[in-house]
Amino acid sequence: MIASEIPLSLYVHWPWCVRKCPYCDFNSHALPQKDLTHAYIDALIADLEKSVPLAANRPLISIFIGGGTPSLIAPQELERFLNAVFSHFKTNPDIEITLEANPGTVDTAHFKAYRELGINRLSMGIQSFNDTLLKRLGRIHNREEALRAIRIAQETFENFNLDVMFALPGQTLKELEMELTEAIAAQSTHLSFYQLTLEPNTVFAKHTPEGIPDPDTIYRMQDLVAGTLDAAGFDHYEVSGYTKPNRYCQHNLNYWQFGDYLACGAGAHSKITLKDGTILREARFMQPESYMKHALTDSAVAHKRIVTKEEQAFEFMLNVLRLRKGVPLELLSQRTYLSLEDIKDSIQEAQRLGLMQEPLSRIVATEKGWDFLSDLQELFL
Ligand SMILES: C[S@@+](CC[C@H](N)C(=O)[O-])C[C@H]1O[C@@H](n2cnc3c(N)ncnc32)[C@H](O)[C@@H]1O
Ligand code: SF4
Repeated sequence: MIASEIPLSLYVHWPWCVRKCPYCDFNSHALPQKDLTHAYIDALIADLEKSVPLAANRPLISIFIGGGTPSLIAPQELERFLNAVFSHFKTNPDIEITLEANPGTVDTAHFKAYRELGINRLSMGIQSFNDTLLKRLGRIHNREEALRAIRIAQETFENFNLDVMFALPGQTLKELEMELTEAIAAQSTHLSFYQLTLEPNTVFAKHTPEGIPDPDTIYRMQDLVAGTLDAAGFDHYEVSGYTKPNRYCQHNLNYWQFGDYLACGAGAHSKITLKDGTILREARFMQPESYMKHALTDSAVAHKRIVTKEEQAFEFMLNVLRLRKGVPLELLSQRTYLSLEDIKDSIQEAQRLGLMQEPLSRIVATEKGWDFLSDLQELFL
């Protein structure tokens, strides 16, 4: 393993939204009364500067500004942050820089300004094109606003993703078909289709809405999504990820290939391979106020740990097996301390169960392994 050859990304977390959605367990909070943007950007810059030695002069291949709703950041504040990134880190000439947006916060002038700052990929949380379902999801926007946001995205960004959720309360297969038609018509370069999950500590977990489709219907919904998007020219390259030719999300692809990433922002996690081959994981303070206080005084990092050799097999497999085409066998020794010999018992068991191919030419799940993905991943625990 040679640390300097592992691709390096940067994740930036913005922790606020106009309103908290009842299904969402991301580290996102309703906007406070007082505008904290300036102080938060100061904290991000202070946090970022402490990570400079960790990058060891390696160039960034991608930046992902996620949340929360980062489309709430005023362009001049985002500029301040990006200037700090560009002054402290080397970047690849074809760096991908993504910003997440909520259609209820879209503004043409802001989007143009983001584009001029170097943001070259937008990821918008549409969730649904159906007004009734959007209401059930507690979204701040309706269908009309979603369509308007898509038009602005089309005019401003050549490369953009839409997030859509399915298996929604009361949703029928026919309604999902309509969602797919509209998502395809939006002509995005990438679509993420997420099955709604009931996450602990969300309003939906406490007061579960009626009409969540049964497992059999969900299975048919998954097939409908995959079949329809395949016919529309999207490559289903990851559990929830569908891309037009060569428009993979480079940032997420780096996570799934067990690449490295620096991070800054409330609750943000980083994973860095150090020069001696040690894999270091760091997590930042979760609450925005506490994060800002720590970032501006000492360190924003609340926990850090070294990933032991025993943990590396599971962490590696958890990521790479999400990729439909998997990864080459050599990637294991390029990204971890392990060789195939170290994990041969788990691989043999996976092959015996029909979850991995035999003989092994790539690290990849079979069709059956794809259907039982978490069982397959757990074999490497
Ligand atoms: C950080 S949000 C994206 C941008 C923006 N915050 C928004 O919602 O418009 C990430 C995405 O995760 C998905 N998501 C969030 N909670 C989910 C859940 N419980 N089940 C499935 N998908 C979920 C949504 O599709 C959402 O767009
Ligand atoms: S807008 Fe996005 S991040 Fe914010 S609460 Fe809703 S789904 Fe979560």
